[in-house]
Amino acid sequence: MTEISYRKIVIERFGDADELRTVGAAMAAPPPGHARVRVIAAGVGFTDLMARSGDYLLQRKVPFTPGYELVGEIVDLGAGDEAGLEPGTLVAASLPKMGAYTEYATLPLWQLVPLPDGLDPVAAATVPLDHLTALSVLDTHGRVGRGDAVLIQGAGGGVGRALSRHGRLRGLRMYGTASAAGSDELLAREDVRFIDYRHQDFEAVVRDHEPGGIQGVFDHIGGSNLGRGYRLLAPGGVLVSYAFSGRPGRMVADTVRGAARVKLMNLRPGRRAALSMVPNELSADHTWYRESLRRLLAMAADGSIDTAVGAVRPLTEAADVHRALERRELTGKAVLTPA
Ligand SMILES: NC(=O)c1ccc[n+]([C@@H]2O[C@H](COP(=O)([O-])OP(=O)(O)OC[C@H]3O[C@@H](n4cnc5c(N)ncnc54)[C@H](OP(=O)(O)O)[C@@H]3O)[C@@H](O)[C@H]2O)c1
Repeated sequence: MTEISYRKIVIERFGDADELRTVGAAMAAPPPGHARVRVIAAGVGFTDLMARSGDYLLQRKVPFTPGYELVGEIVDLGAGDEAGLEPGTLVAASLPKMGAYTEYATLPLWQLVPLPDGLDPVAAATVPLDHLTALSVLDTHGRVGRGDAVLIQGAGGGVGRALSRHGRLRGLRMYGTASAAGSDELLAREDVRFIDYRHQDFEAVVRDHEPGGIQGVFDHIGGSNLGRGYRLLAPGGVLVSYAFSGRPGRMVADTVRGAARVKLMNLRPGRRAALSMVPNELSADHTWYRESLRRLLAMAADGSIDTAVGAVRPLTEAADVHRALERRELTGKAVLTPA
């Protein structure tokens, strides 16, 4: 069990993509209950950009390594551990405190979920965060079912696409906002009725089609969207808010305000409002996390969920990937490959 020398991306001060620096590090043998993992692929999400800027509610203190999700190969295990895992096993993980942009990671065993046979590690790295968030929104908080009508804000984004696919599999009737080129076709593939939020009033469109109201609204923008979404709900309906990203640079303050507003909405009778925060939820309920991720990876392997990879770049090009995401040049998920 020798020390491993490796490289990782570190943010030493908040700022633009230039702050993503590659540094050398050394990793000791894993303690009991942990494994050392050689990272093969790390997913990049919009949340990483927020955390890099210091504009994220679950903000890590600098210095930190970003990235909520990875796929890798177990190198070795802490003394005395037997969890059905062995060196060489391919695993996926969602890391509640980030740290995925790295060549090697020491991770607790509960975070490691074996990959099903035949699933490509790069494709698998697109699954954990977006799809766990979709399950949290739809099942844990939304509790919507077959035939229910729902509005998905940002249905063409990473989480939005996952919501759309799981919504289709659940037989939901879906409305989705988006604006990027090609959104109409993308959403149509998931049976989502497209609303161009830049040119259409989503509230008016949904109300036209659903005068009696809808059962669910899933929102990541916050601000005035919260009240407008809530007003669309039929009695018994639910607003699930999973981010407050409408005003870049003010997301921490907007999240605190938005979360308080969601709590107040929930005090009113007749409709529900809920907050989804997956990093906290997976830390609090390991069984939910492990069973959900195992199921999602199986769905990725049999093709029932998409693993649309928009770009695959070396770990050392993390800054370029962040810039491309900021310029909205990528469709599909970006994946960093350390090796
Ligand atoms: N709660 C959690 O646990 C959790 C987990 C994962 C992510 N998140 C958060 O969820 C948010 C989305 O993440 P992501 O990775 O899916 O980001 P993403 O891939 O960048 O997608 C965001 C989408 O939002 C759409 N959008 C922008 N402004 C909008 C508006 N005014 N109305 C409706 N849609 C709008 C964009 O659509 P167009 O490009 O078509 O305009 C884009 O596709 C982020 O804030 C992230 O931090 C939360």
